[in-house]
Amino acid sequence: MELSKFKALNDVDSVNAYISALEAFDGIAELQELKDLARTRGGVAAGKSILDVGCGFGLETRRLAEAAGAQGSACGLDKSADFIKEAQRRAEAGGQSIDYQTGDAAALPYGDGSFDCARAERILIYLTDFRAALCEMRRVLKPSGKIALIEPDFSTNTINISDRTLARRVLDHEIETAVENSFLPGPLVLALKDLGFANIEISSRALIFPQDLAASYFSSLAVNALKSSKITTSENEAWQTELDDLKARNAIFATISYFLFTADAP
Ligand SMILES: C[S@@+](CC[C@H](N)C(=O)[O-])C[C@H]1O[C@@H](n2cnc3c(N)ncnc32)[C@H](O)[C@@H]1O
Repeated sequence: MELSKFKALNDVDSVNAYISALEAFDGIAELQELKDLARTRGGVAAGKSILDVGCGFGLETRRLAEAAGAQGSACGLDKSADFIKEAQRRAEAGGQSIDYQTGDAAALPYGDGSFDCARAERILIYLTDFRAALCEMRRVLKPSGKIALIEPDFSTNTINISDRTLARRVLDHEIETAVENSFLPGPLVLALKDLGFANIEISSRALIFPQDLAASYFSSLAVNALKSSKITTSENEAWQTELDDLKARNAIFATISYFLFTADAP
């Protein structure tokens, strides 16, 4: 799995692997805690108009629609036509009315002041200009509307591979190649302040990877580092052997920290 593919998922042969990975990730208890907090602090409630930017195939959008109820509304926008198609299929199967659109976070197809709440999760890290997307979210929010952002900091990735120098090189390669903004949470505070957002609140959770997800993700990191000649074939073999052994013993320890930012639009 290459996270960088999330920049343009329309180019991948099959989105199914990415759907499975996102579903597995969505099941992580600590992420669910942050999502719950995002809904509470992000003003999600019955009767509200809510936008999910970079909604993927609508895992969270459907929960937002549920919370908004018949008097409210939920919209989801994503760059991937495949994800939007899957989101529409799921909403229809669940009897939900959700307005999904394919589009770019930097040019939202909604009028000024359209929404009470706007949220984005794990999308700003992929954008070359995340401030442009924040500007757009500010524009489509009503005055004092609520923004909620959930993003990771890739420098917090950990894995209990015993060769720490090798681990550092593999994780550094991921930091350099996986996303556009590996250390996004730091700059995000200033960006929100510069854009006039008020009452900024920040929370964090260290997400504990489930064994299967950890095994497949951290295996791919070493393969990617090998492809870029950052590690040798024998180092990759040692990595994969140790990871397999840890997995067989249900003993992979892998974490990453996620951050929730909520704030009020000017
Ligand atoms: C890691 S996924 C997260 C999806 C969803 N927010 C979730 O948490 O399940 C990143 C999403 O950002 C979308 N994306 C990437 N660049 C985008 C852009 N410029 N505008 C809108 N969506 C974008 C991808 O298509 C993908 O669905």
